[in-house]
Amino acid sequence: MAGEQHKDRFAELRRRREAALMGGGKDRIEKQHQGGKLTARERVELLLDKGSFNELDALVTHQCHDFGMERQRIPGDGVVIGYGAIDGRQVYVFAQDFTVFGGSLSGAQAAKICKVMELALKMGAPIIGLNDSGGARIQEGVVSLAAYADIFLRNTLASGVIPQIAAILGPCAGGAVYSPALMDFCFMVKHTSHMFVTGPDVIKTVLNEEVTFEELGGAMTHNATSGVAHFAIDSEEECLASIRELLSYLPQNNLEDPPRRETRDDPERRDEALNTLVPEHPNKPYDMKELIRMVVDDGDFFEVQEHFAQNIVIGLAHLDGQSVGFVANQPAVLAGCLDIGSSIKAARFIRFCDAFNIPIITLEDVPGYLPGTAQELGGIIKHGAKLLYAYGEATVPKVTVITRKAYGGAYCVMGSKHMRADMNFAYPTAEIAVMGPEGAVNILYKRKIAEEADPAAFRKEKVAEFLEMFANPYVAAERGYIDEVIEPQETRPKLIKALRSLRTKRETNPPKKHGNIPL
Ligand code: HXC
Repeated sequence: MAGEQHKDRFAELRRRREAALMGGGKDRIEKQHQGGKLTARERVELLLDKGSFNELDALVTHQCHDFGMERQRIPGDGVVIGYGAIDGRQVYVFAQDFTVFGGSLSGAQAAKICKVMELALKMGAPIIGLNDSGGARIQEGVVSLAAYADIFLRNTLASGVIPQIAAILGPCAGGAVYSPALMDFCFMVKHTSHMFVTGPDVIKTVLNEEVTFEELGGAMTHNATSGVAHFAIDSEEECLASIRELLSYLPQNNLEDPPRRETRDDPERRDEALNTLVPEHPNKPYDMKELIRMVVDDGDFFEVQEHFAQNIVIGLAHLDGQSVGFVANQPAVLAGCLDIGSSIKAARFIRFCDAFNIPIITLEDVPGYLPGTAQELGGIIKHGAKLLYAYGEATVPKVTVITRKAYGGAYCVMGSKHMRADMNFAYPTAEIAVMGPEGAVNILYKRKIAEEADPAAFRKEKVAEFLEMFANPYVAAERGYIDEVIEPQETRPKLIKALRSLRTKRETNPPKKHGNIPL
């Protein structure tokens, strides 16, 4: 008899589990698929190592009694949470289930998300949030607003302790956008994901502006224009694979080093092609990404924010198996000058690397700050200061290579010795000066040029003189601002040797509650 009772109980468990697995039911799952989207559980399965997912709180339901909600309780309540592994390393996941009340956030759903975030924080493992939600659960009113704030608080507390990764795989509207914004990296899938604080309808009502979902909050908008997102991916499958790849560069938490990736790429490898990559003419562009790929292990460079502020390149790679973050001026875009977008982009990345023990390699070829009223009125002073601040406060190993121009304030900013960089190299083609020769001559000899019978010839002569004096790395090398002038082909072995020598680096900042970065 007792056995029979047990059988019933086991059957009940199985029935409840199966109901939870079905989320909002067959029809809504079909609708999800028709919209080119996967379900929350399908996403989690693809994200994690096969068979590693362990779900928690699958039987949680909401507690709402308004709007007839007590008659609509769906186990799981629109979010799948749990833990599993990526490449054998533990991670925690929450995945909103759009088939249940449009994935909208109830008090119960938020409690689940907070639970999994707290587990991640306690265990020192990354948290990954897969967002697909209609926002605050309208029927729950202020409870759902409070629930969002509970999540934002945990995002803030986890910042700099564990990697936090968000993927937007559907709508993400209203205040819901702020959890992904507080996380370290935000992935979006082209055409199926949207983020905005107020949608097109509200914008039309309030401002009488017409804008489409895609223009307002699509993947390319946030990757290329607003800089909110870091990756624009073609499909959900590729997006989930990309998250796995990103994690392979990162430590589990701020107290660990990133995992080593074994390689057969010779640490002593010299690439002669590097000697001709930087063009002889100082104003001719070249692709800094090519330089990065020629130097790093196996040519693998994981670029971050590829579409935003393309005048600076940031991303992750390995050197002799060690994870490193690259920050590199891009002479192929806007001559590699610094501006508001590039300063913010690089500063945030540097702070991420510093928080997670990833050494920073700076490649410098920068003619200065982008001039113009748009920049000045837009606050280049405070935004440029962010980059200075980020370099200055970072205590991870910092290695800089000046490939060509290092002019003006940009020389100071881009990982200079004076901002506590540990090892500074320059190519023989480096030009380290307060400004370019033309500008310098125009200022220094303004009156003389006006008086000269042949001003063009005079200017040319003075430019040549200035080039001879300053357009080289040796003045800086003589003062010890550059530790070594190297041949471009030696870049890989020199960087690797520098990183090895810096493995035991210990540097701290003065004790404080926190600094006051110019926001
Ligand atoms: C409750 C919701 C919901 C919500 C969607 N649903 N959003 N239920 N609260 N916020 C339900 C729908 O009623 C529907 O239920 C199911 O989810 C699917 O929604 P559809 O509208 O059929 O789907 P679709 O056509 O794909 O449109 C998706 C959508 C739309 C664009 C997200 O649903 C939408 O506009 N929702 C409201 C978005 C919104 O304004 N949210 C509040 C933002 S303010 P059935 O039962 O029919 O399947 C906010 C404040 C947060 O979030 C502040 C934090 C600080």
